[in-house]
Amino acid sequence: MKQFSIVIFFLFTFSSCNGDTVTRVIYSECSDRKISSSSPYQYNLNSLLTSLTNSATFTTYANFTASIASPLYPVSGIYQCRADLSFSDCESCVKQAVSQLPSLCSSSESATVQLQGCLLQYGNNSFIGKSDETLRFKRCGSGIESGGFDPNLMAMRDDLLSALTVQPGFYRSSKAGYIDGDAQCVGDQSSKECNDCVKKTVEYLEKECPSSVSGVVYLGKCYAEYATQDDHQHTYESNSNPSPEHDHGEQAGKDLAIIIGIVAVVILLIFFVAYLRRSVEENQLKS
Ligand SMILES: *[C@@H]1O[C@H](CO)[C@@H](O)[C@H](O)[C@H]1NC(C)=O
Ligand SMILES: *[C@@H]1O[C@H](CO)[C@@H](O)[C@H](O)[C@H]1NC(C)=O
Repeated sequence: MKQFSIVIFFLFTFSSCNGDTVTRVIYSECSDRKISSSSPYQYNLNSLLTSLTNSATFTTYANFTASIASPLYPVSGIYQCRADLSFSDCESCVKQAVSQLPSLCSSSESATVQLQGCLLQYGNNSFIGKSDETLRFKRCGSGIESGGFDPNLMAMRDDLLSALTVQPGFYRSSKAGYIDGDAQCVGDQSSKECNDCVKKTVEYLEKECPSSVSGVVYLGKCYAEYATQDDHQHTYESNSNPSPEHDHGEQAGKDLAIIIGIVAVVILLIFFVAYLRRSVEENQLKS
């Protein structure tokens, strides 16, 4: 039976590899104002972060205000997961964002942490329900002029971006030719604010990444991104991991994980069949 647990251990180890793109840091912003660790505000903040994390197990957006420790120093917060994430990925993303706070925004009175899969934001001002179209992060992929690309790519890009602009909803996803992309607004926005925000990201993408085969723009309350289908992960690179080799390594890692997974399943089957055969033989001996 020992072999079974080893194989199962491998299966679990390698299937958990996929999670790390979700929790990669895109950007963080922290207030200069700091709070002391024993302040009532900090107690409220701890309780807020617990509420946000718990909520992420069953909804992809929520807002809370915590004031139990001290009604004089309330602290408000929101999170927004990518709407295409499962609840368990959403939860692990929000958990990860919370656990990164001490290193990214140590003791900050207000903070924003954007991971690949979720946004986490808290503060003592009423930012909830306000629109925010300030540019927080942008990244443009290689220019079409660098060669090897279909000359129609930019036309596909423009089609995709207009499709994202007119699509209704807070999470939008579309394809044009072999460019695909998505956009998402934070759940505290109205439909109109969301439309305006997505429109603004599209304008940024057109202006800042005029001839790029991929691009991503995060504003305060929404983001939009696009990429050629085979190049999709390159837009996901973050500030902290700018090297292109990283993605190739990751892809190789995923391929390896799949191969090891298949091998593990085959080994598991062999052991299982051997085990069945042995117990049948034992039963035959007994009878
Ligand atoms: C909340 O922010 C205001 C400024 O916007 C500041 O004066 C106040 O001290 C802050 N409250 C706490 C508890 O940090
Ligand atoms: C904040 O949360 C409350 C309670 O869940 C909800 O009723 C309200 O609509 C939310 N506000 C925004 C702006 O999302």
